[in-house]
Amino acid sequence: MSLVGFKAQNHPQQTRFRAAAKDEIDDRATPLDVFGPFHERFGFTVDVAAAGHNTKLERFYDLETSGLAQSWAGERVWCNPPYSNIRPWVEKAWQEWDQGHSWLDVPEGSLRTRGTPFRFCKGCDREEWQNGIVREGIAGCHNAQQIVMLLPANRTEQKWWQELVEIPLRAKRHDFHCEFLPGRIRFLRKGQSEIGPNERPPFGCCLLIWGAPSTDKEQQ
Ligand SMILES: C[S@@+](CC[C@H](N)C(=O)[O-])C[C@H]1O[C@@H](n2cnc3c(N)ncnc32)[C@H](O)[C@@H]1O
Repeated sequence: MSLVGFKAQNHPQQTRFRAAAKDEIDDRATPLDVFGPFHERFGFTVDVAAAGHNTKLERFYDLETSGLAQSWAGERVWCNPPYSNIRPWVEKAWQEWDQGHSWLDVPEGSLRTRGTPFRFCKGCDREEWQNGIVREGIAGCHNAQQIVMLLPANRTEQKWWQELVEIPLRAKRHDFHCEFLPGRIRFLRKGQSEIGPNERPPFGCCLLIWGAPSTDKEQQ
């Protein structure tokens, strides 16, 4: 087969800022059969990047109320952000995850740790152990309880990934994880209930997880 005259085309979810149709391109819903198991696992309380017709949860923010402008304090956040501009969402997640607490690291070898290093918050006594166990503290520090973000897994060379994902992953923070998902998700356009075999995006996806990667149920 000759490739002469072949014009490479990006999949719409890969292209940035095609001005007029930007929201049309960003409006890709996570299918319920993909979302369901995540919801069961994490028990989300709010969908921070949504529209009335594609929200996955009763409580949601849309373009008008803007999930970027709201506090995520105390929430278990589901976020499948607009793929035309991902950086502000990952920045927001870090801000909502780390703000509010005054962490003190308790190193390995200390009597309190029984061998496993952990950190605790001076403000609310929340404990986060390196083996993934979290003990909730008293109310008082305002940050998100859990954040789960569904992202394309083929942008790892980009600056936002390198700065906001790669560095913390390499630091092996116990409260930040990346899971690469099998297969390709069939995101749905507005008004679609199913998509054809050739409409799958040409990229796999990953979950960024702030907080414990498994529920207490799974750890037992
Ligand atoms: C990839 S879709 C995800 C839809 C749905 N939450 C899901 O998981 O199926 C991203 C949605 O975020 C909306 N959106 C864009 N900017 C937003 C903002 N600042 N705040 C809240 N939603 C926004 C878009 O209109 C779009 O409906």
